[in-house]
Amino acid sequence: MPLYFLRYYIKNSLGIGDKVGMGMKHLWVFLPLIVWGSEDFISDYEYGEMLFANPRGVSCSQCHGESGQGKTIVEYRDIHGKQLLKGADIRQKTLAEMITAVNSYHKIMPRYYLTDEEVKAIYNYLKIKNQNYLLECDEDNRTR
Ligand code: HEC
Repeated sequence: MPLYFLRYYIKNSLGIGDKVGMGMKHLWVFLPLIVWGSEDFISDYEYGEMLFANPRGVSCSQCHGESGQGKTIVEYRDIHGKQLLKGADIRQKTLAEMITAVNSYHKIMPRYYLTDEEVKAIYNYLKIKNQNYLLECDEDNRTR
């Protein structure tokens, strides 16, 4: 919707439309809609961010890092020496893999009771947050 109005406004203000003077007027009428539209987009991202940071009280980022890049959870020593317990890098997981992982039992990772919509919000958040990294991976794959 906002894009439509924006295009309408630009068309008018460039004088392509028949009523050039109407352009400014339209901007003020539709500006709240444009802003509202982009806020809607941001709040999807923020919703995903919020879920990733605090889903049902146990944060994904505690074990998978701020961007899902993976992280050392604990370091300990046993008879084999120094051991690292790591949360996986989940930046390249598909939505289906995410849904399965979140809904199944693991040794370390808790089972979350998140809806598919909630997992999707987390998934989308990670996709946007890591878009540069993911683009690089794509390019690497193509030139390999
Ligand atoms: C207590 C630490 C911990 C938390 C919290 C946690 N994970 Fe994990 N996660 C792990 C570990 C460790 C693995 C590697 C598999 C295993 O041993 O459980 C993993 C694996 C995964 C995988 C990959 C499964 C595969 O296909 O290999 C995904 C996706 C994932 N986690 C997503 C999430 C999301 C999303 C959240 C938050 C809703 C989350 N995790 C919270 C520790 C955690």
